[in-house]
Amino acid sequence: MRSHYCGELDLSLDGQEVTLCGWVHRRRDHGGVIFLDMRDREGVAQVVFDPDTVDAFALADKCRSEYVLKITGRVRPRPEGTVNPNMRTGEIEVLGKQLEILNSALTPPFQLDEFTDVGEDVRLRNRVVDLRRPEMQDKLILRSKVTSLVRRYLEEKGFLDIETPMLTRATPEGARDYLVPSRVHGGSFYALPQSPQLFKQMLMASGFDRYYQIVKCFRDEDLRADRQPEFTQIDIETSFLEEEQIMGITEGLVKEMFQQLKDVDLGEFPHMTYAEAMSRFGSDKPDLRIPLELVDVADLMAGVEFKVFKGPAEDPKGRVAALKVTGGAELSRKQIDEYTKFVGIYGAKGLAWIKVNAIENGANGLQSPIIKFLGDDVTMKIMERLDAQNGDIVFFGADKETVVNEALGALRCKLGEDLNLYTRDWAPLWVVDFPMFEETDKGALTALHHPFTAPTCTAEELKANPAQALSRAYDMVLNGYEVGGGSVRIHKEDMQQTVFEVLDIEQEEQREKFGFLLDALQYGAPPHGGLAFGLDRLVMLMTGTTNIREVIAFPKTQSASCLLTQAPGEVDAQQLRDLNIRIRRDPASATSH
Ligand code: AMO
Ligand code: AMP
Repeated sequence: MRSHYCGELDLSLDGQEVTLCGWVHRRRDHGGVIFLDMRDREGVAQVVFDPDTVDAFALADKCRSEYVLKITGRVRPRPEGTVNPNMRTGEIEVLGKQLEILNSALTPPFQLDEFTDVGEDVRLRNRVVDLRRPEMQDKLILRSKVTSLVRRYLEEKGFLDIETPMLTRATPEGARDYLVPSRVHGGSFYALPQSPQLFKQMLMASGFDRYYQIVKCFRDEDLRADRQPEFTQIDIETSFLEEEQIMGITEGLVKEMFQQLKDVDLGEFPHMTYAEAMSRFGSDKPDLRIPLELVDVADLMAGVEFKVFKGPAEDPKGRVAALKVTGGAELSRKQIDEYTKFVGIYGAKGLAWIKVNAIENGANGLQSPIIKFLGDDVTMKIMERLDAQNGDIVFFGADKETVVNEALGALRCKLGEDLNLYTRDWAPLWVVDFPMFEETDKGALTALHHPFTAPTCTAEELKANPAQALSRAYDMVLNGYEVGGGSVRIHKEDMQQTVFEVLDIEQEEQREKFGFLLDALQYGAPPHGGLAFGLDRLVMLMTGTTNIREVIAFPKTQSASCLLTQAPGEVDAQQLRDLNIRIRRDPASATSH
């Protein structure tokens, strides 16, 4: 129907007749002439109707916001003084000659041109209209460009796109599974994949050598701003490559994305060990745009009487760390109280602080609720270690190591944001040398990545000292977000069994859950490894938002529901009967197991 997209029109088309199809973005009446701003996915163009074209003018008069039109007219330069430099098509307008109303529209639930603060739930309920906003169109168009670039990049490097099943067995990635009941096998369930991990490993065993897939994954877990129950991975696996080569290919992909689509050179990604990241930033996904660092001070605190610090300082699983904020002495009591509340979310029992007013006066030049507990000597040693200067504030965390890391790690990011401390726009890095396992609250070990990750040591060493073992895993981090993670895998059955043993998975359970993988490893599996990117997160960062729902056409809310379709919904009794399922309505009994 159309000859051009609205957003494509410019002065080069001066005098030419064009046909546009799209929506009425805005309609204005100006003393006898009618202006219709016509919108399609490429942009907005101004169309003018004057009363001389009687029929078209009469129809234009009837048009309202979001009517769907087909318009034919002639492109001409805008009269002097009416050029709009903020608009891509701002130098021209179309003199409308014919107009056909293809469909009318109800008044939209919110104005698309002056979008201000409509609540997100209103937008999600009216997603069809919301997605018409140029901002949303731009985001999804960028997303499409990203996936297109990914395919080109990987296919040039010999990767094959192979699909893996959605109805499958559980693939452990640390979240709960979404289950699908089987009608044919009453009482049995498929699991939706948390990732294609096991299938891509089996494809390597089958000799496909380089695999990729842009694939949906499903995880029933607590949602956050950067997590969805259903999300997309760029999933990659290779055979016969070492971690450096896998990191090289995947780093190259992200660099290419930023170069081509954002004109940003990310440079070479630095590598940082997990231990260093935790010690300096309290996080395994440090935001390196923020120049604040955690500094250990337990050794200086060990002798003090102050129980809050002494306890953790002497506990091998404890940590006492300081965080110096240059210029932070200006923070008010109220702000400090708010930060104290903030670290409370992460389990911190308080947030001690010292303001540096006049360091030349020694401890007398400091202001703090804790100096009296620490003594002047210890206090000044701490100031020295931190190289504290007038105008700084120093925060302290003392607790179990995990609590201090989480609390001060999060505080560091919050201060970075609140005080706008960012030193650059983009800070990518690789985090490497992860431990194989982490201890749960109950003292058992779980895999830090997934149980198919290869250790750097032998099976004997792993068995002897699992808590110390490091893995051949690597995470790609960008601006404080984990955008991708992967590893070299275990490709020998005995090593895989050793890991299952350390994780306390009995032989019988191993066979039952992962028999197919153990078998595959016995039939000549090559050394292999890979990585998966979170596509949504990458696009979220590229579009400058911190809300993953902004880059997904039809996302779910924080409580995993779809406001547009009202999913999840009830099903009728017959369907349940077919599936041999009875719903227990009593919430008390439902949660007691
Ligand atoms: P992992 O669990 O680290 O690894 O997932 C890979 C990447 O997927 C993204 N991601 C998510 N994005 C949105 N919502 C979620 N709920 C969500 N969960 C994860 C993250 C993450 O870095 N099979 C392994 C990969 C491998 O070893 O090759 C895996 O799934 O950006
Ligand atoms: P209190 O003796 O409880 O009044 O604490 C004195 C100061 O230490 C206050 O500023 C508290 O916020 C702080 N504080 C208490 N517990 C901790 C902790 N675990 N880590 C860091 N600071 C703490």
